Amino acid sequence: MEDQRQEDPPAGGNDSGKPDLLLLKERALNVAAEGITIADMRLPDQPLIYANEGFERLTGYPIDYVLGKNCRFLQGEDADPATVKKIRDALKSGNECTVEILNRTKNGKLFWNRLSLTPIRDPSGAITHYIGVQSDITATKRAEEATQEANRQLEIANRRMKRNLEAAARIQKSLLPVKTPQSEDVRFSWLFQPCDELAGDTLNVIPLDEKRFAVYTVDVSGHGVRAALLSVTLSHWFSQLFQGPERTAASFAPAEVAEELNRGFQMNTENAQYFTMCYGIMDVESREFRYVKAGSPPLIVARHNGTTEVVAVDGYPVGLVEQPGYEEQLLKLTPGDRVFLYTDGVVEAEDEKESNYGTDRLAAEALCHREQALDDCVNAIMQSVRSWASPRGLLDDVSILAFELRR
Ligand SMILES: Cc1cc2nc3c(=O)[nH]c(=O)nc-3n(C[C@H](O)[C@H](O)[C@H](O)COP(=O)(O)O)c2cc1C
Repeated sequence: MEDQRQEDPPAGGNDSGKPDLLLLKERALNVAAEGITIADMRLPDQPLIYANEGFERLTGYPIDYVLGKNCRFLQGEDADPATVKKIRDALKSGNECTVEILNRTKNGKLFWNRLSLTPIRDPSGAITHYIGVQSDITATKRAEEATQEANRQLEIANRRMKRNLEAAARIQKSLLPVKTPQSEDVRFSWLFQPCDELAGDTLNVIPLDEKRFAVYTVDVSGHGVRAALLSVTLSHWFSQLFQGPERTAASFAPAEVAEELNRGFQMNTENAQYFTMCYGIMDVESREFRYVKAGSPPLIVARHNGTTEVVAVDGYPVGLVEQPGYEEQLLKLTPGDRVFLYTDGVVEAEDEKESNYGTDRLAAEALCHREQALDDCVNAIMQSVRSWASPRGLLDDVSILAFELRR
């Protein structure tokens, strides 16, 4: 019974003479994780008249030492003068303020202090005291700084990568036909729209002599850097094909070219890449287009008499199987006929309902713009594909290469 009375003194008083609630408040203030301080604003230099144990734990300064001192002793040279001014101004104008300030503990260790200052007024409204609450936010600050630094590094890496991609895209563009060969007999036109910085598509028109022109469109599986590397390699491969001294007309023959490419670019487990291709030679003398199709979408032929043909030919993409058995196809043309080679990005462009642009629409567009110059016709088709895909954007590279037999 004795013990119980000692632990639980009668309401209204105790041995120290303080009322219970006051004791409880003092205990509560002392167990708080934050530092809590009170400065008397009526005394010269606004000294602390109270500091809790949390303040002692945070700063390492004994309570006896801090009482009677202005709390600026926590500031070293590291404290930001603008922040100190902000505190000074708030105290002068009697406002609340919260700042984050670098302070030092008794043994010189830096810590970030989130300091909140609130005025206490007497019944007449005059400020008599300020209460300060100090929280150690060093860990949060460090984490913030680390995140900021990581973001900065990421931005640098991003900029570098963007620069590299732009440089690579310029190289890739430089491999496209610079000056499309034009003659009295045949007109060529092409458009190329990568869906990323770099494309897996490539195309070209190369005059073999005055009467024969090699054309190709290539679409490497996937897109982005990986596809672009192979597409650039293939552009070089083709330019070697047409420039190599040991080459004869037979070495440009469509089926042979496709077979050679298939041998040289077999897909393996490391590089799971293959490509579709349409490659052919337009002979304006014989008015024949001899070509090979390796998994590329059907040719569209817009005839001079206002009909269109969709010429689909089966054929494996290059690199997919060891013995694709490519066969040369023959297309006989009459003056005014137009032939459209393109990559599947054209017909697979999707509108907001995920419907494909489709071969029929492409054929209809080719017909619709038949009276326009070939360049304008190709432009109009590209425009129509773009607007079809505009709600979702192009999801694949888009290439169109067209030619028109003129006489
Ligand atoms: C109650 C109270 C607590 C304070 N606690 C801190 C503190 O923890 N750290 C600090 O850098 N400044 C603290 N200050 C601010 C400084 O005591 C001082 O007001 C500030 O440096 C601006 O005044 P000065 O320009 O005269 O130094 C506190 C101020 C008050 C009134």
